[in-house]
Amino acid sequence: MEEFRTLVLYRTQHGTTKKYANWIADALNGDVMEAGKRNFNEWASVMTGYDMVIYGGNIRVGGINGIKDFKAAKIKNHVENVAYFCVGSYPDSEGTRLEHLHDNFTESEIEDGVELFYCRGRLDYIGLGFLEKRIMGGLMKAIEKKYPEDRTEAEAELLEAYYDDVDWSGRYYIEPLVKYVKSFMDEEQLEYTEKVAAERIALRLKEEEQEAVEWEEEMKRREELHKQNEEKEERDKIRRMSKKQKEKYFAMKAAKEMAEAEEDEALSADVVESVDDYSEFSDEESQKK
Ligand SMILES: Cc1cc2nc3c(=O)[nH]c(=O)nc-3n(C[C@H](O)[C@H](O)[C@H](O)COP(=O)(O)O)c2cc1C
Repeated sequence: MEEFRTLVLYRTQHGTTKKYANWIADALNGDVMEAGKRNFNEWASVMTGYDMVIYGGNIRVGGINGIKDFKAAKIKNHVENVAYFCVGSYPDSEGTRLEHLHDNFTESEIEDGVELFYCRGRLDYIGLGFLEKRIMGGLMKAIEKKYPEDRTEAEAELLEAYYDDVDWSGRYYIEPLVKYVKSFMDEEQLEYTEKVAAERIALRLKEEEQEAVEWEEEMKRREELHKQNEEKEERDKIRRMSKKQKEKYFAMKAAKEMAEAEEDEALSADVVESVDDYSEFSDEESQKK
């Protein structure tokens, strides 16, 4: 049997596309390489000999990262089968996929049957660079300007997620692409690929468990840092106040805290009352039975 050889090449900005590239390579027992900023022509020799090359990139203002360079390498001269995937923050739908297809491929490429798959990624506002924050900020402002009822579901979701770390990625997104590539394999190749893939996936899951623990620690660190920054800002603000402003500020703060405590008490009284009501109701119900 001749093994079916798959290569997954990718470019990423914040790592989600790399994660997908690894998942895809695991599922197809393929090789995976980051394309980096190198000229793709240099990659031609690397790509030769593969039965399938998959190119994936993150989406940035509609464009798939690195797609122009990859296409310029005239990959079809070296490899028979090519497929693409892209990673963005919009919800997964045929509409999203088609939009990215038309934004990144010419009409003749589409007519020739180019295969593009979509995987939903992640938005981590704190992790964005300065310029990225400005671009995303502009996009969010445009969404904010719309009346809530005029926002699409995707826009509403993005707005809600914007100042948080939201990760929509999931292994199920790779399934259509994996199925597509497997359709090129013969029975023996498929059986072998699936056997090795199962081992690779099990190993990857273990690695990811460890990463999840590390990420939780990172989130705690960020939260602590955020709290410290807020406290420092407040101290600086108070330091700049006049005596009169300070008195007013502390009086208002005390009133606010008291109101919050009262609200807490009222809320917990409400909860206790509804729990009591519920247990009375369930007692009556069970007596009826
Ligand atoms: C500056 C900027 C522009 C973006 N533009 C789009 C876009 O046009 N469409 C989209 O679906 N996602 C867009 N995103 C979201 C990213 O594609 C998403 O966060 C993805 O998971 C990033 O992949 P990476 O982690 O591999 O870099 C944008 C993100 C940034 C920071």
